[in-house]
Amino acid sequence: MRKKIVAGNWKMNTTVPEGVELAQQVNAAVAAASDIKCDVIIGVPFTHLTAVKAVIDIDKVGLAAQNCADHTSGAYTGEVAAPMVASTGANYVILGHSERRGYYNETPAMLKEKVDLALASGLKVIFCCGESLDEREQGIFKQVIGDELRESLFHLDAQQMANIVIAYEPIWAIGTGKTATSDQAQEVHAFIRGMLAQQYGAQVADDTTILYGGSCKPSNAPELFAKPDIDGGLIGGASLKADSFMGIVTAF
Ligand code: 13P
Repeated sequence: MRKKIVAGNWKMNTTVPEGVELAQQVNAAVAAASDIKCDVIIGVPFTHLTAVKAVIDIDKVGLAAQNCADHTSGAYTGEVAAPMVASTGANYVILGHSERRGYYNETPAMLKEKVDLALASGLKVIFCCGESLDEREQGIFKQVIGDELRESLFHLDAQQMANIVIAYEPIWAIGTGKTATSDQAQEVHAFIRGMLAQQYGAQVADDTTILYGGSCKPSNAPELFAKPDIDGGLIGGASLKADSFMGIVTAF
């Protein structure tokens, strides 16, 4: 059975002390709750990884970086390599977020490198895909999503796919308050699972966790998570307060 996951993506928010406090609150809430039916992960800025790792129980709250470099070491000023992320004790990295693709010109080829280096460092990857509003309106969203998966993930073998979580994040729903309807999300999730089945067979398709992201909050999470191919969420704004994040964690 594939894992259900609710992962927070804090993006570029919180100072280190604020982030440590938020992580402590999430950790305490997860430890206190007896009815959590999913894995919980927090995706924090690079600067926070070590300090946050020190205050969470990593067996209960997973820790993700939000990016890693497409090289392992060397003269790449300002970059943070996958082995560095892994050395903090983090166990996940978010790759391919539309904000990285859009604002920092991350290409499918770069993301393929990042995926390989992350896996080689023992990190699990939360790989994001999703279409723009224009691409949805043109009716080419499945082609766009298909290309993103094919170009950066489908060189992996079936064993490596066990360490990949896919996050479908329609760009038009991110931070806009405009959620994809549960039917729109389910349609894409089923499409992605179908692609996985074609490429890797039914077992890998069944075992791969596919998250929805984009204005997910406690009020809409239950309906989204009730869909057969939606295995949880990647949460931006609502992950910045422990109570709203926990409201989504407990939505299953
Ligand atoms: P919001 O939940 O703020 O829309 O962000 C979603 C997202 O981009 C998570 O990676």
